[in-house]
Amino acid sequence: MIMHKIKNSLGQSHQYIEKFVKEGDTVIDATCGNGSDTLFLAGLVGKTGKVFSFDIQEKAIEKTTKKLSNANLIDRVVIIKDGHENMDIYINKDVKAVMFNLGYLPRGDHNISTKSHTTICAVRKAMNFLVTGGIITIVIYCGGDSGFEEKEKVLDFLKDIDQKHFIVMKTDFINQSNWPPILICIEKL
Ligand SMILES: C[S@@+](CC[C@H](N)C(=O)[O-])C[C@H]1O[C@@H](n2cnc3c(N)ncnc32)[C@H](O)[C@@H]1O
Repeated sequence: MIMHKIKNSLGQSHQYIEKFVKEGDTVIDATCGNGSDTLFLAGLVGKTGKVFSFDIQEKAIEKTTKKLSNANLIDRVVIIKDGHENMDIYINKDVKAVMFNLGYLPRGDHNISTKSHTTICAVRKAMNFLVTGGIITIVIYCGGDSGFEEKEKVLDFLKDIDQKHFIVMKTDFINQSNWPPILICIEKL
């Protein structure tokens, strides 16, 4: 099998997060889904760090709890069954990184999906919680069941963020068919 050095958007989000997150950091998985990103973050923050993980679906909460328990990392994670747009109810400290992996649960109900207005609300809140030098990653899906509304509205919001305070980057695969997901990185200055 050929190993590509240029990863897909999710792989690239992990590469960026790895550059920022260190042992002892507090971070957020805004869409825990099957728990893979939460597991990845729990490994990075180490014994002294904390991951706050959100999802609105019971199935996602169960899967993430099981995955982290099996890996013996559940004590590093606070798993919250609520929308990420309510993150300020649960978090009252600075965070180093926030991961958003938008869309619907893989192999789950395609109707239970992130929505532009709650996503934008959550990204705004995440930008406030972020420490200087912290990062937000957003993987955005479109086309097919996801449509284009969320991607367009989120990009519309992101392009007006003040460049004096944040770097906002978009990576895209411009020669791939079927609307591959894109990656957004936001670094706080
Ligand atoms: C693509 S999946 C996430 C995949 C996940 N990061 C993983 O590692 O498996 C998107 C998830 O977002 C969740 N979701 C939808 N709206 C949400 C909201 N307002 N707040 C938090 N999670 C939400 C869905 O239930 C779904 O599980």
